[in-house]
Amino acid sequence: YDEAEANEKVEAALEKIDEAAGILAGGGLVAFPTETVYGLGANALDGDAVAKIYEAKGRPSDNPLIVHIARASNIGELTPALTPKIIRLVDNFWPGPLTIVLPKKQNIPDITTGGLDTVAIRMPDDPVALEMIKKAGCPVAAPSANISGRPSPTKGEHVVNDLDGKIDAILIGSDCRVGIESTVLDLTGEVPTILRPGIITAENIEAAIGGKVEMDPALYVNRPRDVSDGENNDFIPKAPGMKYTHYAPKAEMTVIEGQIDRVKNEIQRLKGLNERLGLKVGVILFEEKAFIEAAHEFFAKLRDLDDEGVDLILAGALSEQDGVGFAVMNRMLKSAGYNIAKV
Ligand code: TXA
Ligand code: MG
Repeated sequence: YDEAEANEKVEAALEKIDEAAGILAGGGLVAFPTETVYGLGANALDGDAVAKIYEAKGRPSDNPLIVHIARASNIGELTPALTPKIIRLVDNFWPGPLTIVLPKKQNIPDITTGGLDTVAIRMPDDPVALEMIKKAGCPVAAPSANISGRPSPTKGEHVVNDLDGKIDAILIGSDCRVGIESTVLDLTGEVPTILRPGIITAENIEAAIGGKVEMDPALYVNRPRDVSDGENNDFIPKAPGMKYTHYAPKAEMTVIEGQIDRVKNEIQRLKGLNERLGLKVGVILFEEKAFIEAAHEFFAKLRDLDDEGVDLILAGALSEQDGVGFAVMNRMLKSAGYNIAKV
């Protein structure tokens, strides 16, 4: 990690902030860095501007966007009632990778929230993002700045590869420190519920609010489907189902799950087997308990392997007992279309 180079990128981006803010205020699209992944922003209160986000990404219009603010105190412009719980969460985790879902105010267009009567709000922890939103003078709706279905972008070059020429500007800042998208926490029900796991875990949130947090049961659907069940143990992993195109690399991908040494052996065995058949094999294998590092690197690794033109990706599973491990596994399993082999 080159800190001087990162600082230079941030300086260069800050010089382009006025221009970027002007584009946002005028109804245009700007990609920008955050600490999680790069975002593709538009004025959240301008329905026509937000419509362009869906078009540029090729995103289904019923998938709501996160609204980004630069001052925690701006939350009251988006949601009608603040509870002590919300205030505690904001104090503990903002700016940072926690998105909270709350009842929405009527001034937010339907297209921003995918027709829902709730809104997802977050204050990102990135100097370029915060300065841009402040100068734009409006809340900024932003999904991840990738073409829909591709791995989320964690470096400026990923955004350039996906969106250059399709949007009005790209602010290139630091590589994303976190590397997976924010934790999405729904606060509209009785019990706070995690809809998307991230680097801020259920335990972190429980410690902050002093109460129970639930996981959305949908997070456990499709998990696991064991493709190694069957007669032939020397299977050649198959393409994931067409239904699961989230974060999909171009290559076929299988997650190998089990005790770490067995996983390593199985990856070597399958790699050899497939290479003898003339296939190019990429491996994603993180240190056993390096969950934060895995989060930081996972999406970038997928893109690198795609660029290398591998046919098959073999990935070692992380422990889902750990909250961050669970969050990375959520992305890994989606990328692989829930193609899992147990050893
Ligand atoms: O880290 C992040 O959250 C990044 C950066 C750019 O901030 N953004 C991001 O946005 O990941 P996106 O659009 O790729 O994912 C937003 C997620 C989706 O799963 C969406 O369905 C959910 O948040 N979401 C947004 N608004 C919601 C709402 N009102 N209720 C429930 N889920 C919502
Ligand atoms: Mg996304």
